[in-house]
Amino acid sequence: MPRSGSGSLAYQNVPSESYWPTPAGGAAPFTPERRSRKKWWIIGGVLLGTAAIAAIVAGVVVSQQKNKGGSSSSSASSSGNNAVLSNPNDPSVFDKDSRLHQSMWGIAYTAQGSIPPNCGATQANVTRDMQLLSQLTTRIRLYSANCNITAMVLEGIKAAKVDMKIWPAIYINSDETFNQAQAKTIEEAITTYGTDHIEGITVGNEYILNTAGTNSLSSSAYLASVSKIHSEIKQLNATIQSMKLSKHLPIGTSDAGSVMSTTLGAGIDYFMANVHPYFGGLAIADAAKWTWDFFQEFDVAPAQASVNKPAVYIAEVGWPSQSMNASAANSGAGSPQGDASVANLQTFLDTYVCQANANGTHYFYFEAFDEPWKAQYGGVEPYWGLFDKDRNLKNITIPTC
Ligand SMILES: *[C@@H]1O[C@H](CO)[C@@H](O)[C@H](O)[C@H]1NC(C)=O
Ligand SMILES: *[C@@H]1O[C@H](CO)[C@@H](O)[C@H](O)[C@H]1NC(C)=O
Ligand SMILES: *[C@@H]1O[C@H](CO)[C@@H](O)[C@H](O)[C@H]1NC(C)=O
Ligand SMILES: *[C@@H]1O[C@H](CO)[C@@H](O)[C@H](O)[C@H]1NC(C)=O
Ligand SMILES: *[C@@H]1O[C@H](CO)[C@@H](O)[C@H](O)[C@H]1NC(C)=O
Ligand SMILES: *[C@@H]1O[C@H](CO)[C@@H](O)[C@H](O)[C@H]1NC(C)=O
Repeated sequence: MPRSGSGSLAYQNVPSESYWPTPAGGAAPFTPERRSRKKWWIIGGVLLGTAAIAAIVAGVVVSQQKNKGGSSSSSASSSGNNAVLSNPNDPSVFDKDSRLHQSMWGIAYTAQGSIPPNCGATQANVTRDMQLLSQLTTRIRLYSANCNITAMVLEGIKAAKVDMKIWPAIYINSDETFNQAQAKTIEEAITTYGTDHIEGITVGNEYILNTAGTNSLSSSAYLASVSKIHSEIKQLNATIQSMKLSKHLPIGTSDAGSVMSTTLGAGIDYFMANVHPYFGGLAIADAAKWTWDFFQEFDVAPAQASVNKPAVYIAEVGWPSQSMNASAANSGAGSPQGDASVANLQTFLDTYVCQANANGTHYFYFEAFDEPWKAQYGGVEPYWGLFDKDRNLKNITIPTC
């Protein structure tokens, strides 16, 4: 979806509804109704002008601040208020929430107040998020390096003294100044905090899908997008190499699982694939297996066939717990098995997390927290969190494994 390319505004980590082909031999997930709804949605996205999007973003942030209530299901934490630091004077001292278990390979994270022009993330909030997420995983991925967020996350990890590694990221759009400014803040964060808590750097989030759409993997639009990502990566790599770090930092990209190819693979150290069974039109019972099949066929196989065999990760996988409106409250597989619901979120956790750990899939669960700013995209977009926007765990049981 062409959400990018609008000056300094960055639109990030909105799981795309478009282009979820069926893996060979998999269930055929699409109904004709669903296809036409997708098309409408995509056209709707195209028609939104830059100014309109900017206005909506501003409006969403304002209403996010005003709206204290929210509508997502939530329950009070058993260990006090998850919305604040337990001990602001020493963030390394905090109560563990007995409902949380360090069972996920990784988690996708966007801090509040880290999307321009609405920066304003506070260190206290970011540090609190590190306290919470470190009880679920040892690894998080970020989406951009705007608003000084790389340094704030590394500071939060340091202050909370938690065992966490991060994958910082640059959100690429057509504004080169904007891309370079993010590269600079990553460089500064590395200079300040070192590389102990960094595993790799991601350049671009759904850049190829946003710019080449569903054009074929041999189309000129696709090849142009790939070449842009390759050149951004080369540029960042030159900077990183010039720092003479003692640790090798792989540099790759994240995008829709369907855009991986041997051509893309040739210029990246790793590929992170968004694989969304909900947008694939799946019933919850088939979601985990489909995710495995899709990732093997569309990502693992082309990576292995690529000259430098980039590492592959699942950048986003999850299931939404509710929808903004009824028309977009189902994957297309019927109710209740295709519903965006807490019950289906629970089933996905129960059927995916420990199984994926056991068979060595390196995935980032999508996502840490509900994100009200995504209300501009409608449907299920704001409701993918394990926690609601106020940092209350949803009514779910985190698997132990
Ligand atoms: C910090 O977190 C609190 C509680 O979740 C929230 O109300 C507030 O808006 C957050 N502030 C920022 C700047 O993110
Ligand atoms: C970025 O965040 C770090 C960690 O909180 C802080 O020390 C630094 O002053 C911040 N830099 C800017 C330019 O705000
Ligand atoms: C970055 O540069 C190093 C050293 O030249 C090289 O080994 C690595 O493959 C490069 N990574 C990318 C993605 O170009
Ligand atoms: C890996 O786990 C997934 C569930 O996440 C499952 O569907 C798949 O069959 C497993 N693969 C193997 C090889 O066990
Ligand atoms: C669902 O929400 C989207 C985004 O807010 C909106 O564009 C659409 O009209 C809504 N549909 C219904 C049926 O309310
Ligand atoms: C939480 O989910 C359980 C089923 O897993 C249900 O029995 C219970 O009523 C739910 N609680 C709330 C507050 O929704």
